[in-house]
Amino acid sequence: MKSLLEIFKGKVQSALAAGFGAELADTDPLVTAITNPKFGDYQSNVALSLPKKLKKAPRVIAETIVDNLDVGDICDDVTIAGPGFINFTLKPSYLSSLLKEIEQDSRLGIEKVQSASKVVVDFSSPNIAKEMHVGHLRSTIIGDSIARILEFRGYDVLRLNHVGDWGTQFGMLIAYLREAYPEALTTADALDIGDLVSLYKKAKIRFDQDPEFKETARNEVVNLQAGAEDSRHAWQLLCDQSRREFQVIYDLLDIKLTERGESFYNPFLPEIITILEAQELLEEDAGAKCVFLEGFTNKDGDPLPLIVQKSDGGFNYATTDLAALNYRIKEDKANRIIYVTDAGQANHFAGVFQVAKRAKIVPETVDVVHVPFGLVLGEDGKRLKTRSGETVKLRELLDEAVLEATRELKDRLEQDNREESSEFINQVGQVIGISAVKYADLSQNRTTDYKFSYKKMLALKGNTAPYLLYAYVRTQGISRKGNIDFNNLDTASIVLEAAEELVLVKHLLKLSDVIQEVERDLLPNRLCQYLFELSQKFNQFFENCPVLQADEPQKTSRLILAHTTAKTLKLGLHLLGIEVLERM
Ligand code: ARG
Repeated sequence: MKSLLEIFKGKVQSALAAGFGAELADTDPLVTAITNPKFGDYQSNVALSLPKKLKKAPRVIAETIVDNLDVGDICDDVTIAGPGFINFTLKPSYLSSLLKEIEQDSRLGIEKVQSASKVVVDFSSPNIAKEMHVGHLRSTIIGDSIARILEFRGYDVLRLNHVGDWGTQFGMLIAYLREAYPEALTTADALDIGDLVSLYKKAKIRFDQDPEFKETARNEVVNLQAGAEDSRHAWQLLCDQSRREFQVIYDLLDIKLTERGESFYNPFLPEIITILEAQELLEEDAGAKCVFLEGFTNKDGDPLPLIVQKSDGGFNYATTDLAALNYRIKEDKANRIIYVTDAGQANHFAGVFQVAKRAKIVPETVDVVHVPFGLVLGEDGKRLKTRSGETVKLRELLDEAVLEATRELKDRLEQDNREESSEFINQVGQVIGISAVKYADLSQNRTTDYKFSYKKMLALKGNTAPYLLYAYVRTQGISRKGNIDFNNLDTASIVLEAAEELVLVKHLLKLSDVIQEVERDLLPNRLCQYLFELSQKFNQFFENCPVLQADEPQKTSRLILAHTTAKTLKLGLHLLGIEVLERM
C-alpha cells in the first residue's frame, strides 16, 4: 500500500499537471510530514520552487495547485500559509480506513521492492587470533540491523563476514605453535591453547627478539601460501579456535553470517594485478606496484598511492578488497555492496572504490558504500577500556549487561511485590541486557562517538530498549487483562476522535516512510527514533484514553490502535535485532 507521503506526492503532481500542463508532472512535489501538528499533517513547498519557471508569484502558484487538488476524500482542510506553503490536514475517517488496512496486513503496509536485487552486507569481520573488540561489536549490531531491514524489503541479501584470516602473522603463530604445542599439529582436538590472544603476544615477542625464529616464521608463510599440508592444518586449527570464540558472541547476539574471509580471495589476487595492468593504471613506486589516487595527496601535495603489491611480492589488505569486489560483482552478481566498519577505514574504502571504478571492476550500475561509525567511549569520554587499561572483552561486556539487567529486574520485582520464577527472571534479564546494548548503539547516529553506560542503557525511562520493550508489554497487558484476542477484532467501524488517538494513528502510518529512509541512508537510528516516539505516543494514549472501560465502538477502535502499536513495535524492534517480551 502507498504511504501517506507517496499519496500526497502523487496528488500534488497531478494538480501541477492539471494546473500548469503535463510537463510539470515530474516536478519534485517537495512533500514532507509536518512536525508541528498545529499547522497540519503534511506540507508541500513546491510552489516556492517554481516562480522562475512559471513566472508567477509563489502564492499564486499555490492557489492554482490547491484549485486543482483532488483531496476531498482524504483531507479536512487544505490551507496556504506564509509565502506559499500548502498544508494538508487529514480526515479522521480516512485515517480509520488506513488503520484498518495496516491492522490486517502482516507487513503493516510496507511493500516489497519490485525486483529482488542482490545486496552484499560486509559486516562484523573480526580478525583471527586477535580480540574481537567493541568496534567489531558496533559493526555486528549495525550491519545486522541494516541486513534485516533490506531483507524485509525483499532484497536478496548476502551477509558476509570478511574475517582477517590471512597474512604474515600466521607464519609467526604457526612457527610458535610448532615449538610450544607440537602435539596440537598432529592430534585432532588436542589443541587447548587457551587464550589465542596471549599466544599471539608470546609469538610476537619471540618474533621480535629471535632472528632465527623470524626466519622460521617467514618460511612458514611461504609454506602456508604454497599450501603445505601441515601448515594449512595448523592454520585451520587457529582459525577454528577463533571461530568458536566469535560464535559465542554471535549466539548471544543472535547474528547469522556467512564467513568468507580474506583467505578466500587469495587465489584471485594475481588477477587483480592483471586487470590493473590491462587498464594501464599500474605504476611502480620504490619497487611496489601501485595505483596513484586522484584527489588524495600527502602534505607536499603529491598524489597518494594505493599499494597493491609490495616489493617482496606480497599483497595488501586493499588488494584483497579489490579481489572481493570483483568476486562479489561477477560471481555473486551484487547490485549494492555495503561495508560496515569504523570511520577510521574511510580512506581505505575511498581509495579501493576509486581504483575499482577506474579499473571497471565496479560498473556504474553497482552501488558501493562504506557505512562508517564512530568510537565507543567509556564514561570518562575516552576510548572504552577496562579499569586496568586493556581492551574490553566482548563476552565480558555482554555478560555484565545481562547481570546488571537481571539485578535491576530483581529490585523492581521486589519493590512491586511481584513473585516470579527464576526461569522468568533469567530469561527477561537476558533479553533486556542484550537488547539494551544493541539499542544503545543503534539509537545513536552511527557517525558519532557514543558513551557506553550500563545505567543509561538500562533505564526504564528515556530512549532506551527497556522503555520500548515496556510499551510493548503494556499493549499485551491490555489483551491479557481484557481476555481479548487481538487477532480477532472487528474492524468494521473504527472511530478516531481523541487527540491522542489521532496523533498515534498518524504516527503508525509513517512506518513505511521511515523504513524507506533507512534503506536509502543506512541510518538505523531513524527507526529507533520512530519507535521511541511511537512508545511515547502510545503511552500518552494509554494514560488518557480508557480502553477496556470504553463503550463500543470506541473500545474496539482503541483495541485496534493498541494491537497495531504492538505489531509495529514488534516488527520495528525485530528489524533492529531485538525481540519483544510478553511480560517484564
Ligand atoms: N578485518 C577488518 C578489521 O578488523 C574489517 C574488514 C572489513 N571488511 C572489508 N571488506 N575490508 O578492521
